[in-house]
Amino acid sequence: MIDMTNFPKAKVIWYQGKFHDWSELTLHSMTHALHYGTSVFEGIRAYPTAKGPAVFRLPEHVDRFLVSASVIKMQTPYPKEQIAAAILDTVRANGLESCYIRPLFFYSYGNLGLVPKASPVELVIAAWEWGAYHGDGAAAGLSVYLLPWRRLHHSQIDMRAKLGGAYVQSSICGLEARDKGCDEAVFLNIEGRIAEGPGENIFTVKDGILKTNARSESILEGITRTSVLEIAADLGYKTAVGPITKNDFLAADEAFFTGTAVEVVPITRLIDGSEGATPKPVAIGTGRAGEVCGRIRETYLDIVRGRNSRYEKWLTYVPK
Ligand SMILES: Cc1ncc(COP(=O)(O)O)c(C=O)c1O
Repeated sequence: MIDMTNFPKAKVIWYQGKFHDWSELTLHSMTHALHYGTSVFEGIRAYPTAKGPAVFRLPEHVDRFLVSASVIKMQTPYPKEQIAAAILDTVRANGLESCYIRPLFFYSYGNLGLVPKASPVELVIAAWEWGAYHGDGAAAGLSVYLLPWRRLHHSQIDMRAKLGGAYVQSSICGLEARDKGCDEAVFLNIEGRIAEGPGENIFTVKDGILKTNARSESILEGITRTSVLEIAADLGYKTAVGPITKNDFLAADEAFFTGTAVEVVPITRLIDGSEGATPKPVAIGTGRAGEVCGRIRETYLDIVRGRNSRYEKWLTYVPK
């Protein structure tokens, strides 16, 4: 039996059209993607609602998944509708009310030249219960390490895609932030402005205006980010999309992360490692979770749980 500590409640995994027992699915060690990161993935969440579990923004996630696959020139063996149906089936087959869902296309076993010319594209979909990404205390605020490493630039890699191999930078820098005693990392872009977290977008709040940046700042334009821009405007906040300088970030009244995994969490402290000096922690705003982030977070968590009819359009219920 394999260790299930970090995959609670996962029972079966969808692989190439069939369910397999979670602990029994195996792949060959010469799988192309294992060596070169030639895979693309999605991170999706389902939440419990009064009408049963619902997946948040499923069509948008599947669309992005297929864009990612096209960036790495995959001939994907399944159309959009079949992928969406398989995702819903995976949640249902595991009997999950609330879960994280991970679809992954990858170049599989066939050859090990860098060009995966004899490696077929395969699809796997997993789902398991995953609570607060940064732990239950995250709502009180996270500390971040502003990295000395700059985010991969949009002129180097297509920022629309969630490419497995590109995430090695997120993994290394996430470890580095924790080595520095922080909860999470933040990247500057090559231009020296704020980019994003390893798996999160960033918002600032200044004088009541919520601001986030765009793909031209070398970020993934997250689905949560886009949702939060709409939610904030509906709540009556002014919003802006544009570059965020380091000084803007340091002088913000509030800052917060958004992302499927992290949801909406405040950033309250920062260690600036970007200048190479021995850094000291500084507070963002008051150094405590802010009111605007709190309101957005609460509204978001209500929406995903089907408690706000205005946004029911964003939910796909898992068929019984
Ligand atoms: C690098 C990066 N930025 C931002 C995000 C947030 O995107 P989303 O809100 O679509 O989950 C993610 C997570 O997918 C990510 O990996």
